[in-house]
Amino acid sequence: MSKFQTVRGMRDFLPSDAERLRHVEAAAKEVARLYGFVEIITPIVEHYELLAAKSGEEIKARMYAFNDLGGRKVALRPEFTASIARLMAATLRNEPKPLRLFSTGTLYRYDEPQFGRYREFWQSNFEIVGSSRPEADVEVLALTNHFMRELRLRNYWFKIGHVGILRGVLFDEGVKDEEQNVVMQLLDTKRWDEALRTARGFGVSEKGVMALKEIFKAKGKDASKVLKQVKKNLKEYASSVAAVENLQQIIELCIESGIKFDMIIEAGFARGLEYYTGMIFEPLVPEIEISLGGGGRYDKLVEMFGGESTPAVGVAHGLDRIALAMDKQNVTPKFSKQFVAVIPIGEKAVSKAMELALQLRKKGAAAELEVMGRSVSRALQDADRRRATHAVILGPKELKEGKAMLRDMKSHQQHLVGIEDVVEVISKKTD
Ligand code: HAM
Repeated sequence: MSKFQTVRGMRDFLPSDAERLRHVEAAAKEVARLYGFVEIITPIVEHYELLAAKSGEEIKARMYAFNDLGGRKVALRPEFTASIARLMAATLRNEPKPLRLFSTGTLYRYDEPQFGRYREFWQSNFEIVGSSRPEADVEVLALTNHFMRELRLRNYWFKIGHVGILRGVLFDEGVKDEEQNVVMQLLDTKRWDEALRTARGFGVSEKGVMALKEIFKAKGKDASKVLKQVKKNLKEYASSVAAVENLQQIIELCIESGIKFDMIIEAGFARGLEYYTGMIFEPLVPEIEISLGGGGRYDKLVEMFGGESTPAVGVAHGLDRIALAMDKQNVTPKFSKQFVAVIPIGEKAVSKAMELALQLRKKGAAAELEVMGRSVSRALQDADRRRATHAVILGPKELKEGKAMLRDMKSHQQHLVGIEDVVEVISKKTD
């Protein structure tokens, strides 16, 4: 056995895993195109200070941070959003708004490795920068919905909340931002009682504690009912009421524009990242307990990094977890392209086979030329194992007649086709 294995929490992607991941990534790219997002590539290594600034304690404690040889404190990015906000505060500050920016790639968090949780993982990340309007929030929900559908995932729902509901009570009770963050972190990890004790410690009145308890209880599928109730209970907290109204607008717009997804509204929903200022959400499926993505509005981050006041809203989808969900739901990616094994018999057929393979590739069909000089049956066995959709066999007899044997690898049926027609026949097939 080899001396070396992958580092704990890191994975190799063997061909079928790599293909699966790239399929999910390709779907994200298609969604980006359909929703008008342009790609942006940022470095994996960033200044520690940038990444730590507003990520929250959970992520900060799990960062791959180190000093580089120049003595700079750097870290491997745990998310994309900080890098995007850095760009918005400097290089892109004068760009016309809104900007719709899309990225995919690997992220690093020193999480405890377990099902769906890795130390190197993949996200597709979408940010709409420059709009504070509910339409922008809805676009982010809509594109996530589109992405789930594109991959044919079933029974998913969005858990939706608004950080302004909880923060509004704390703010109106005079709790400072940093102290609010402590309470929000406790709520993110569902430590309700500890959160209430801490809030009391920060000077929240008994009336405030009661209001927080009401918020924790308020959840359900009927958004309009839940939000109406919350608004009634919190009427003395103007900041919370404004947050509820903003969320109502977002949900109403989704419903009115016919964007269909199941949702659970949770007024007491908090996410680990500290920079959120508005609507937050996570897509979930019943087969997996952890979220397939997460997003929300963050209107203060760019300003915090020295930029102008720039509202923004975005989402990151966990591509690894989406691939796991597809496995659990038995959703097989649909590869429409053909994959053809081109098998020459004897030396004389090689150049013709190679020519054919090149033509197939030009037409967009994947073609693999037999390069091991194996017998037809061995080459076919291999093509079957590699899930080729077709095989084209070129023997001396067929060549003489200007023909090739075209074999459907699924049905095992084969027939002679004129060499000139092979490419056309294969590229006409849809599956
Ligand atoms: P996040 O909730 O920290 O948000 O991560 C988003 C998604 O990344 C998670 O829902 C999950 O699917 C995936 N993910 C996170 N950690 C791991 C892990 N250790 N292993 C596998 N998958 C993981 C953000 O990253 C924000 N930047 C999202 C955002 C963009 N908000 C606004 N714009």
